[in-house]
Amino acid sequence: MQLDELRGRTAVVTGAGSGIGESAARHAASLGMNVVLADVATERLDAVAADLRSRGSAVLAVPTDVRDVAAVDALADAAYAEFGEVAVLLNNAGLESLGVTWEVPADEWRRVIDVNLLGVFHGVRSFVPRMGADPRRSHLVNTCSVGGIAITPRMTAYAASKHGVQALTESLYLECAEVFPQITVSVFSPGQVATRIFEDAPTHEVTAADTVFWREQIREGMTPDVAATLLFDGIARDEFWILTHPESFERLAAKRARVLGEQLRPDALFDGRN
Ligand SMILES: NC(=O)c1ccc[n+]([C@@H]2O[C@H](COP(=O)([O-])OP(=O)(O)OC[C@H]3O[C@@H](n4cnc5c(N)ncnc54)[C@H](O)[C@@H]3O)[C@@H](O)[C@H]2O)c1
Repeated sequence: MQLDELRGRTAVVTGAGSGIGESAARHAASLGMNVVLADVATERLDAVAADLRSRGSAVLAVPTDVRDVAAVDALADAAYAEFGEVAVLLNNAGLESLGVTWEVPADEWRRVIDVNLLGVFHGVRSFVPRMGADPRRSHLVNTCSVGGIAITPRMTAYAASKHGVQALTESLYLECAEVFPQITVSVFSPGQVATRIFEDAPTHEVTAADTVFWREQIREGMTPDVAATLLFDGIARDEFWILTHPESFERLAAKRARVLGEQLRPDALFDGRN
């Protein structure tokens, strides 16, 4: 979908109160789109909404916990009641978790799967039938991660959730192609982007040094504004794979292909980074 086709149409962004989601919402607004912002962090959500409104954008802020099926249904109801259509849906809300598998508390594991994986499913189930009832073209993007194709010890809950998002999104692409061909489905797989994501990740004893490492490391990442620009460029090109760091993605994908193709043990190509 060409970017100028998006003017006057509507983007819905989950996790819009910070980082990549906030930048994507700002980018959508700069293209002349109406924006529907959803986040569980209501103060940040309201601040982004107020700022965009002050710049003349049509904005609806809907406090939403993407873990809650009814809340995501209510988000879709609110978006369609306000703007009558959705051209771009970004299922983007997510969180990080660090720790060896047995150390991370069960509640934290469950929360990561609930937000990162089931939150995406909730967005799909609430919005796709309505986007599919509209004959106009639309675009659904699920934010995954290079973690969706990499194997990452001490980040296992996150990796499991993102591998789930990857599988969900490829399957969804095929389902939409069959049932609602006017909906294009993409996976957005960022590498490191400088956001607050590791600030919110709880610390655990065995891997406390990892938390410090990642909080430092992420600051060196790409800015969320650049990531959002690449995201919309991918939408404009109707790409399925939308990447921020194609070289590291290709390196990880080549490794994964060898591990699977040659049935290698997980440590065969492991270099400490994945
Ligand atoms: N930053 C990176 O390097 C990176 C890399 C790969 C993938 N990602 C993915 O990008 C997405 C956005 O992350 P970010 O880096 O911008 O992080 P961020 O922490 O800056 O933003 C995430 C937003 O999601 C919101 N959120 C968390 N739980 C929620 C819930 N239950 N319901 C609704 N909103 C909720 C948070 O409040 C926050 O505002 C995530 O899916 C993340 O996994 C980020």
